[in-house]
Amino acid sequence: QDTTTPKKYVLAIDQGTTSSRAILFDHGGQIVSVGQLEHEQIFPRAGWVEHDPKEIWTNVREAVGQCLSRAEVNRHEIAAVGITNQRETAVVWDKNTGEPVYNAVVWQDVRTQKICDELAGDEGADKYKDICGLPLATYFSGPKVKWILDNVEGAREKAEKGDLLFGNTDTWVIWNLTGGTQGGVHVTDVTNASRTMLMDYRKLAWDESVCADMTIPMSMLPEIRSSSEVYGLGRPQGLLVGTPVAGDLGDQQAATFGQACFTKGMAKNTYGTGNFMLINTGEEPVVSENGLLTTLCYKIGENKPVYALEGSIAVTGSLIQWLRDNLGIITAAPEVEKLAASVEDNGGAYFVPAFSGLFAPHWRSDARGALVGLTRYVNKGHIARAALEATAFQTREVMDAMVEDAKTQDVELTELKVDGGMTANETLMQFQADMLGVPVVKPKVAETTALGAAYAAGIAVGFWDGEQDVIDNWVEDKRWEPQMEDAERERLLRQWKKAVTKTFDWVD
Ligand code: G3P
Repeated sequence: QDTTTPKKYVLAIDQGTTSSRAILFDHGGQIVSVGQLEHEQIFPRAGWVEHDPKEIWTNVREAVGQCLSRAEVNRHEIAAVGITNQRETAVVWDKNTGEPVYNAVVWQDVRTQKICDELAGDEGADKYKDICGLPLATYFSGPKVKWILDNVEGAREKAEKGDLLFGNTDTWVIWNLTGGTQGGVHVTDVTNASRTMLMDYRKLAWDESVCADMTIPMSMLPEIRSSSEVYGLGRPQGLLVGTPVAGDLGDQQAATFGQACFTKGMAKNTYGTGNFMLINTGEEPVVSENGLLTTLCYKIGENKPVYALEGSIAVTGSLIQWLRDNLGIITAAPEVEKLAASVEDNGGAYFVPAFSGLFAPHWRSDARGALVGLTRYVNKGHIARAALEATAFQTREVMDAMVEDAKTQDVELTELKVDGGMTANETLMQFQADMLGVPVVKPKVAETTALGAAYAAGIAVGFWDGEQDVIDNWVEDKRWEPQMEDAERERLLRQWKKAVTKTFDWVD
């Protein structure tokens, strides 16, 4: 890389569930330009969700191209590239050809339920919790990799010969970005690794016994690195030739970083296809008694790792897409706010979107979605409202679990930092504050996921000095205060809890 041109920007690549984006940030943490492309959501059977990894890589390259040309910036002005990604989604490819052996099996996919049940055996879903901090559930990568090796012809033989590589989409993008079959680096960071079920969260190393149980050859696994260090340089043929690839964080951890949640007890909630609330628990991992995941929050270079507790909700924003794509009652996602505002309340309807089973705090893979409380009175406005409210109710359930776990840690949740697409929905944000009973606060730069990845990369190369720069750049934009009467809040939550029980035991 040319060392004479002053470095003015850091580029973040956000490889998300529905799209891949490239966002250029300046030193003040402000967005300079954006490139974005959506990829196809492939649903081969009920409960299966796949992405085409080749389409994802093509889209990443095109998004980077769009972003740089819109800003008229060339690679010499870019200090570093940071990657952030949809977590858990499993890609397996041939290291000699660069060809995936199967589509990416997405985090929302529930095809591994049988594998999970078999692995759990008599010991139950918490069999590996002591090692990896997670319950056995279809959500995580390990069982997805096992499924690919068991079901794709020839895959297991190739994997055993050492020809196949596994990675989440961070690993897939970094491998391609740094040269692919021509010397691409095969790495991941601690946060992504902590979602595979294969890493010992204390040792930050792959666990041999879990890999053996899942029949996954360890030669397939990427090297586990910190979230902020130089992993490699952009490949000679690419737009980012010679640029250090220096940050890697799972998207929810990246958002936690971008929200400057650096102190124990600070929490954020991201509203994406699903919702993910993380609370920083400091340098010691905390084991949840209430259905939350013990996960890595970030690790900056040689510093000690920082841990988090996470409440993951599988379906929130994607329920609005479902109203648009599968029911057709809106034509664009933002229209849901207007439709929901056409009625005064939910009319007694509750929508529990257990499309991928229920994640935190229930962890019920046997659940499926339910729309309950229907009468002749209910119309599409009520359904839109029930869909929006589902996001806030599910978030409240996760918050309750967090508050319970936090008690043992002597921390108190006094407000919730929020980000992500649905925070543009005023009706939802007010209802969210009402349901939580604490203020909900949004920063000026709401693209905290990409921002977090940019900071991790920029800190690694000295573009930013460290966490204090992130804190200094964080500026509050809007705050919603709770306004609802306690009795009304309790009534709605009671009904919601009843609705949730209707989704259980649906799958034989
Ligand atoms: O765990 C799944 C999560 O990382 C996906 O996030 O924003 O791509 O829906 P998002």
